[in-house]
Amino acid sequence: MKVLVVGGGGREHALVWTLSRSTRVKTLYCAPGNGGTDGLAVNVPVPAHDVEGLIRLVREFGIDWTVVGPEDPLAGGIVDRFREEGLRIFGPTAKAAAIEGSKDLAKALMARSNIPTAASRTFHQAHKACAFVRQEGRPFVVKADGLAGGKGVVVAQSVDETCRTILDMLEEKKFGQAGARILVEEILEGPEISVLAFTDGRTIVPMPWSQDHKRLLDHDRGPNTGGMGAYSPPRYVTKELETEILETILKPVVATMAREGNPYQGVLYAGLMLTREGPKVLEFNARFGDPEAQVILMRLETDLVDIMEAVDDQRLHELDIRWSQDAAVGVVMASAGYPGVIETGRMIQGLETTLEGTMVFHGGTRKEEGRVVTSGGRVLTVCGRGRDLREAVDRAYSLVECITFEGAQYRTDIAWRSLK
Ligand code: AMP
Ligand code: GLY
Repeated sequence: MKVLVVGGGGREHALVWTLSRSTRVKTLYCAPGNGGTDGLAVNVPVPAHDVEGLIRLVREFGIDWTVVGPEDPLAGGIVDRFREEGLRIFGPTAKAAAIEGSKDLAKALMARSNIPTAASRTFHQAHKACAFVRQEGRPFVVKADGLAGGKGVVVAQSVDETCRTILDMLEEKKFGQAGARILVEEILEGPEISVLAFTDGRTIVPMPWSQDHKRLLDHDRGPNTGGMGAYSPPRYVTKELETEILETILKPVVATMAREGNPYQGVLYAGLMLTREGPKVLEFNARFGDPEAQVILMRLETDLVDIMEAVDDQRLHELDIRWSQDAAVGVVMASAGYPGVIETGRMIQGLETTLEGTMVFHGGTRKEEGRVVTSGGRVLTVCGRGRDLREAVDRAYSLVECITFEGAQYRTDIAWRSLK
């Protein structure tokens, strides 16, 4: 069959790679793809948000299945439009994807489902938000309500910084429409984990857990980013915690959405903080994480097409999804300036290096006269897998050391919380 992957980041390269191992897939397309998907798939220069253009592409090439990587087309209703056209596509409808697209809506859904999450209040007016914060007399997390590419969250250190951030979002419109409404949320403490699950709206099959590294710099310092590296599994996994997360978070959210006539199908991602009071939700995402997908998909042994079909046909309960026991680690190499204004067009060297148990997934890259150059913020996710986390980390960093481009930034401590 022919399969299209929508998007052009590291996650989409990982999806293309995963599908390229399927015995059922003959031809792969990626729109728009990147320097890494080029070759494994046919890159087609249609942007991920151009839903009508993608529909034309699918018809023209006779594509059987479409998989969506990023959140924007999901929020924009790509799944709804494909279904109207009778085309098969993997992902949630726009209404279901709003669980990521509006943090306010997600909070209300969690309240209705009794799901543990950080206490928060929603504001439209800066003076009211600041008055609340000053009255409380402590710093808060300030979140833009809408989609902001993983950058619309500031964990403030002081009351003044909280208020400054509120003003930036509501008055200065630093995040445009995404920040026209904000959440002011209590600061939670504890390790964070990403729990992703396949769901057909009834059955939920959690994937192996992973941990992302949101801060730009080592020791979790610097600004929040889309994610600077991930690994799987983190050391916190226990049977009890797995059950608690399934019972108190994943099952209630999927059940409420189904009951309310808004069933969720696809990949549901819960960003959790393991607090002293138990796991609490920081956010839901309506898709695979990036860079979580890169490490999780390295561990997937079942054919992804079988999973997509089972989700679509609501027969996920019939499928036995298998994962490798290996650990996997992904180190993001980013452009100079990321997560702010970036430099691009830098030549990447060392990509031809092959080391046992490693993979490089491209994000912001493109091919130019046979060379691969940087074209985005997160350029590469350099991955290693091994019998344990130590081996996976060593392999990933051995390869990182062989790859260079001017101004490259990466963290040297990915997986530190589980290596202690
Ligand atoms: P979000 O997009 O809501 O997951 O937020 C991005 C990042 O900000 C999270 O991965 C956390 O590292 C941090 N964060 C979000 N909410 C909180 C919170 N309530 N307390 C502490 N840190 C938070
Ligand atoms: N790595 C975080 C995300 O994909 O949202």
